[in-house]
Amino acid sequence: MKWKNQLTGMKPYQPGRSVGEVKKMFGLSEIVKLASNENPYGTSPKVREFLENLSIDHAIYPDGYASNLRQEVALSVGVNENQLLFGNGSDEIIMIISRALLQPGVNTVMATPSFSQYSHNAIIEGAEVREVQLKNGSHDLQEMLRQIDGNTAVVWLCSPNNPTGTLIEQTELEDFVQKVPKDVLIVLDEAYFEYINDPTYRNSIEFIKNHENIIIMRTFSKAYGLAGFRVGYAIAQEELIFRLDPVRAPFNNTVISQAVASIALQDTSFIEDCRIENEKGKKQYEEFAKEHSLHIYPSQGNFVLLEVKSDSDAVFEELMKKGYIIRSGNALGTPGYIRVTIGTKQQNEDFLQKLSEVLTQLGVFA
Ligand SMILES: Cc1ncc(COP(=O)(O)O)c(C=O)c1O
Repeated sequence: MKWKNQLTGMKPYQPGRSVGEVKKMFGLSEIVKLASNENPYGTSPKVREFLENLSIDHAIYPDGYASNLRQEVALSVGVNENQLLFGNGSDEIIMIISRALLQPGVNTVMATPSFSQYSHNAIIEGAEVREVQLKNGSHDLQEMLRQIDGNTAVVWLCSPNNPTGTLIEQTELEDFVQKVPKDVLIVLDEAYFEYINDPTYRNSIEFIKNHENIIIMRTFSKAYGLAGFRVGYAIAQEELIFRLDPVRAPFNNTVISQAVASIALQDTSFIEDCRIENEKGKKQYEEFAKEHSLHIYPSQGNFVLLEVKSDSDAVFEELMKKGYIIRSGNALGTPGYIRVTIGTKQQNEDFLQKLSEVLTQLGVFA
């Protein structure tokens, strides 16, 4: 068959081990998954209540325009309804952008390490991928600017960045957005927006008013605790959304997904509570790192990237035997580190106890 050449040797997204798989492998009854930056508190109780009393006509296609959800997100974000694009997770938005703008002969600029799907989709579309090494865990925007040329179609920014958790500094971001040529699309991925706690951060929606070449991505998968329902969205000027929308699959958000996202969006106090708890949890990791002289990146997300001073895969394997699934830095382009989702207070305490045991076992701690 006449496959695209670039598909040769490509692997599907590696999501890390599932709970069921690890239970079976090690004969464990309890597993704590701190691997995919999901919300340890689940979702709003209002969503749970809705799901318990669910009555829906499954035979009918969903609203392909997600009208109700659109109306509510527009109101919540402070934009017009036609400035929104909904995806089956922000993963689908990345795919839509790539399909619409990337092709052989163009290039795309991104940081590395960063979220893997930017390069994955770019490769499928046959575009040249220009990866710019992070500087102290942060985007090197000056070098990213230098990499942009007449053939650049898209530049990807991830803030807070996955896997380091670092936020792009506000004034640097403003300067960058000013300097990027108007015919290059800037994608600002804010999957962890709800967790940002840096007082210097200014809501990026402001950029959209003055820049026709920026699109912001957000998701219901992280703070809203709806990763299983797959709802993400993008915000941009109307013309940009109008050009991207034909690429979207019809009916890409299910009836139930649209409904639960609407309900979750209303429960602002749940999100605020999660943000506060996340800050407390982050401190548990920061204190652990300080106590043991391990480097930790300053995270503005619901995860931390922590130094382990040994082979990350070995730490990952040993933690898994003890019932904890995290991400090895080796898989994320950050060897010598592990990425851990911030859990509940008790989960963090128990996890750090197990990590101490593992690091003692591996000879890192005396
Ligand atoms: C930075 C970033 N962007 C996008 C995504 C994809 O999220 P979604 O569940 O909305 O597809 C993730 C998920 O881990 C992420 O970390």
